[in-house]
Amino acid sequence: MTSQIPVEPVPAVLRVRELMTAGLLSHAISVLCDLGVPDVLETARSHVELAKEVNADPEGLLPFLRAACAAGVLAEPSRRSFELTELGQVLRADDPHSIKAMCSLTCRDEFSRTWSDSLHTARTGGPSFAVSHGSSFFEYMASHQEFATLFDKAMQSSAAVDNLLAGFDFSGVRHVVDVGGGRGTMLAAVLKRYPTLRGTLVDLPHVVGNARKTFAAAGVADRVTLVPGSFFDPIPGDADVYLLSRVIGNWNDEDSLRILRTVRTAMRADSQLVVVGQMPSENDRTHYPQQLDLYMFALLGARLRSYEEYQDLFAQVDLEVTGWSNFPDSESVLRARLS
Ligand SMILES: C[S@@+](CC[C@H](N)C(=O)[O-])C[C@H]1O[C@@H](n2cnc3c(N)ncnc32)[C@H](O)[C@@H]1O
Repeated sequence: MTSQIPVEPVPAVLRVRELMTAGLLSHAISVLCDLGVPDVLETARSHVELAKEVNADPEGLLPFLRAACAAGVLAEPSRRSFELTELGQVLRADDPHSIKAMCSLTCRDEFSRTWSDSLHTARTGGPSFAVSHGSSFFEYMASHQEFATLFDKAMQSSAAVDNLLAGFDFSGVRHVVDVGGGRGTMLAAVLKRYPTLRGTLVDLPHVVGNARKTFAAAGVADRVTLVPGSFFDPIPGDADVYLLSRVIGNWNDEDSLRILRTVRTAMRADSQLVVVGQMPSENDRTHYPQQLDLYMFALLGARLRSYEEYQDLFAQVDLEVTGWSNFPDSESVLRARLS
């Protein structure tokens, strides 16, 4: 007979303390990414070896490594020796689904200041980023090149590319306009997959120049036209497909409708609109959509929309959703046409 030792429940005060310091785990992971620790963790290594390799102080590094263990991205198989867990692989720069740049971005001073001022968001419904920085998120990036470069890098996620290619079949499409296409990661991947396709990338003047390198590296530069400009102004017409990837989710309803109207005006009767974005659904298995909703609202004043909310938004500008695909990382690809 085995004796049952009763397990005491964790006191509420301890659980809540854990919650209130959970943000420090993100910071620890971000610091480790900035130092390049995941990149040098092929096998288990001591904190002293790691500190030497990444130019850190061994005792200073130790609590960061232990916090990352608490978060589940590192493990400590023997005392003061650390390795990457399966979960932690995406923190490496060379992982195919790397989110290293996203981890660095999330804990940047610009974001920390936004969270510090987020009472403003709760009280007024306005984005606290604007209060902390005196300008909107995208205006700020126009004059802060280093931050903008890190943001663009964080957007270069191959998972999003995989979702787009799985969620929309570009066979038979001759010309795609990528609206707010950023550094061109999505468009370059599409053009590489479909060798007869032509692409046009529209983004703000300080962004489009950076996309040139992406297209050259993908060997598709000769099939791309770069258009510096705003999606609040007219955009090129005569495309079979208009792509809005991770764009509409950054704007409130009023601005989203303005962007959709710009696109609708450019569309032919037979053009299709493809929207890539995070959409909460009943299949979600993490709290990420709720966290992202808070994140986007404080930074940009934008709310995460469900599939039904997208349908309603599109209907207001006479666009009809024709289908959607939802992926395990909560990203969705939505297809629409003129109604
Ligand atoms: C979250 S990023 C998405 C980039 C890209 N579509 C992707 O999925 O990787 C949003 C993009 O919108 C662009 N953007 C913001 N305001 C814009 C405007 N008024 N006109 C055109 N592009 C804009 C930003 O420069 C940025 O590249």
